[in-house]
Amino acid sequence: MPRDLSALANENTLSGMAGLSKSNKATNIEREPPMDASDDGHTSDASQPNRLRDDIHPYCQTLSLSDVESCTRLEEATFPPQERCTREKFEYRLRNCGELSMGIFTSLKDSNLPTGETSAPVYSGAPERKAVLLGHIVATKTTTLVVTDEDMAYPTPQNPDPKLGHKEEGRTVCIHSLAILPQYQGKGLGKTLLKAYLQRIENQSVADNAALIAHEHLIPYYEKLGFENKGPSKAQFGGGGWYDMVKQLQPSQNITS
Ligand SMILES: CC(C)(COP(=O)(O)OP(=O)(O)OC[C@H]1O[C@@H](n2cnc3c(N)ncnc32)[C@H](O)[C@@H]1OP(=O)(O)O)[C@@H](O)C(=O)NCCC(=O)NCCS
Repeated sequence: MPRDLSALANENTLSGMAGLSKSNKATNIEREPPMDASDDGHTSDASQPNRLRDDIHPYCQTLSLSDVESCTRLEEATFPPQERCTREKFEYRLRNCGELSMGIFTSLKDSNLPTGETSAPVYSGAPERKAVLLGHIVATKTTTLVVTDEDMAYPTPQNPDPKLGHKEEGRTVCIHSLAILPQYQGKGLGKTLLKAYLQRIENQSVADNAALIAHEHLIPYYEKLGFENKGPSKAQFGGGGWYDMVKQLQPSQNITS
């Protein structure tokens, strides 16, 4: 079986997931119907995190400019001030390469979550139901193997240096923000989101590597998800102390009938 098909047969992660496309970048289009994000296709009564995660019915979809406010709130709830992606940076990233992003959502009627107020009506016949952002990945591309401070920055009218920010010709996806709302951490959502994201990047063959910088305590987390620790990073973003984590991607084979 071609690799794509066998992957889809083995995991539900990407069932029906939209591809990476410039066409839905930076638009306020009505959301596409939700895609189930159940991970690995297994549920066990003995597994409390999976049971809780399944109660949430999470689904993944590409972010757009209309998600900037929710992303900003999610970031404020999960990162210390010096490590947060600002509203302006989210705007830059979602405007220029929103197709490299992904959110994990749940459909709720009422929510006291930080992202509850900023959520949009869900694609359904029940307008009171909102698509509430529980976690996100926001990324750019770079021409190097690891994430640099220039990749973490973005060009502004005051400093329009083209070395800053997203490089469309790059073959490494820089994952800048992987974050899950604190109330929903430890339920497998981070793993589900990252696996779905990486599989989509591979299926679309838009990059050869995925890279991120992580603090030491999260090295085992990323290693379990297939990243390799390349040692201390030169990046000084947010005060430094990061490690370079890189995962080589497996571009998908063309499917022939
Ligand atoms: C890091 C983060 C994204 C993980 O998401 P999560 O949904 O809480 O994690 P998951 O529930 O998917 O964990 C998946 C697995 O990793 C393990 N894990 C979680 N945190 C871990 C850690 N710090 N170290 C090692 N393993 C860890 C879990 O035990 C689980 O293992 P299992 O698959 O064997 O059951 C989330 O905790 C978060 O948003 N933290 C704050 C922001 C942040 O630091 N982001 C990372 C920036 S580099």
